Amino acid sequence: MTREIPERTPFATIDDMPPPMRAMIFAALDRMAADPQMRRVRAVAQRALDPRPGQRVLDAGCGLGEVARDLAAAVAPGGEAVGVDASAVAIATATERAGDVPVTYAVGDLLSLDFQDQTFDGVRAERVLQHIGEPDAAVAELVRVTRSGGRVCLVDTDWLSLASDGLPEDLVSRMWREATGARQHNPTMGRTLRRRLVRAGLVDVVCEPVPLWFTDPDEASTVIPLFNRSIPREAGFVPDELWDPWWAAVDQATAAGELLAFVTIWVAAGVRP
Ligand SMILES: C[S@@+](CC[C@H](N)C(=O)[O-])C[C@H]1O[C@@H](n2cnc3c(N)ncnc32)[C@H](O)[C@@H]1O
Repeated sequence: MTREIPERTPFATIDDMPPPMRAMIFAALDRMAADPQMRRVRAVAQRALDPRPGQRVLDAGCGLGEVARDLAAAVAPGGEAVGVDASAVAIATATERAGDVPVTYAVGDLLSLDFQDQTFDGVRAERVLQHIGEPDAAVAELVRVTRSGGRVCLVDTDWLSLASDGLPEDLVSRMWREATGARQHNPTMGRTLRRRLVRAGLVDVVCEPVPLWFTDPDEASTVIPLFNRSIPREAGFVPDELWDPWWAAVDQATAAGELLAFVTIWVAAGVRP
């Protein structure tokens, strides 16, 4: 499969986007945070990270910051939750939303975190590594800022696990081939998380695939952009020549009650020795 990976993927360049596009991305992150299936993913990740009162924890690539706020509650009293993201606009939004929640947000790069070695008891990164060109360097940086005995938890999508039923096979295989992967540096990131933690020297590494499935295209659109009709045609998520047949097929499968779309998100965690 040949595909062109942009030098910097859209999620690495949120601040450079036209404001309407950025608003769309933020709305998508908010919908995702509220989605029951994503909540299952985050519950698995929370158990794997296992934050305790009094601990210092980091959500790296925190987006709009809601997980860091949950972490603040989990480490209270006496703990400290920090969220870092490359997007200054996301960090400003997270800070505004925090209100009285004792959480700190800062602009920062996963590849060069502005923290001393072994600062945190727990470090997590959710759906960030797929957008980074040097994921192992990012993992090494997450490990660097985790204390000995502390936990690193990674969450990421495996876009090549994306599959469906109820849609024409030939159309689906063209869509998947042309559309999946073109928006990430690492479309199979989810399945590689365990190996990356092992190679980074972590011990007691565990992993868990969380399957997400949808029978309604609007619900699917929360996690799978190919089902998101509000993304304009010119954004290119659905290849232009497949736009009409794709939406006709989705409508037909939905009307027949036959649509099924599924994708796997992986959670992996380990302990820094
Ligand atoms: C798909 S969003 C996920 C946000 C959040 N973790 C969540 O699960 O809702 C990817 C986030 O990673 C951030 N990001 C991308 N590259 C980054 C980097 N090198 N350092 C820090 N954050 C980065 C983006 O700004 C964006 O907020």
